[in-house]
Amino acid sequence: MWSPPTVEPIDDPAGAALTQPTLHSPRLLLRPFAMGDAPRVHALAGTVQVADTTLTIPHPYPDGAAEEWIALHAESYARGIGAHFAIVEKGGDGQPAGAVGLVVSREHRRAELGYWVGVPFWGRGWCTEAAREVVRFAFGRMELARVVACHFARNPASGVVMRKIGMRHEGTFRSHVRKWGRLEDVEYYGILCGELTESEPPPERPAG
Ligand SMILES: CC(C)(COP(=O)(O)OP(=O)(O)OC[C@H]1O[C@@H](n2cnc3c(N)ncnc32)[C@H](O)[C@@H]1OP(=O)(O)O)[C@@H](O)C(=O)NCCC(=O)NCCS
Repeated sequence: MWSPPTVEPIDDPAGAALTQPTLHSPRLLLRPFAMGDAPRVHALAGTVQVADTTLTIPHPYPDGAAEEWIALHAESYARGIGAHFAIVEKGGDGQPAGAVGLVVSREHRRAELGYWVGVPFWGRGWCTEAAREVVRFAFGRMELARVVACHFARNPASGVVMRKIGMRHEGTFRSHVRKWGRLEDVEYYGILCGELTESEPPPERPAG
């Protein structure tokens, strides 16, 4: 039987749990976006190659859209309904190479994972590394039970990322969405807490 969704009050006077942390993976920092990242987001997300296989990134990318998107992040994290991370190379120039995030349904302890990586950084395994860390965060700090993700059938690289972190293919939705006037088949994936694939090599042991 349907009952109205409960809206949990934010009870965190010190604000510690409401501030989005920076996550670490072997090669990457996953940090909250700052307003200064907007020009970089505009440049990378503004390419047709990135927009083509995402549902929500507009093309051409409008002026001010990156600023508007970044401005939503802090409140959505504080309310427990989203977590958006800039993918940044450790030891690099500190600028985002892409984005990875969760849109959370607290009622169902579930999130939808999404990501994009700027074209110059494709094929380095960064998306896989970032997605794994964010799903670990979803099951850990966010205490979620399930993460889902989906990709256009014509975007197999995204399916590789999902399978490499342990997500299972749960179905194909035929002609499910319309992108730039064309109906697209969409592949749906899911993962439950405990199913994450840990494929980082173990730390090197000191010689001797
Ligand atoms: C999909 C995307 C995020 C992948 O980012 P990435 O950092 O290059 O991903 P990774 O390097 O971690 O992994 C990609 C994998 O796909 C594989 N791959 C790439 N192109 C492929 C293709 N055409 N067919 C099959 N596999 C492919 C790569 O070989 C790699 O696998 P490997 O590590 O086993 O070699 C990136 O291409 C992107 O941002 N695309 C545009 C936006 C988008 O599609 N976002 C996802 C929406 S669901």
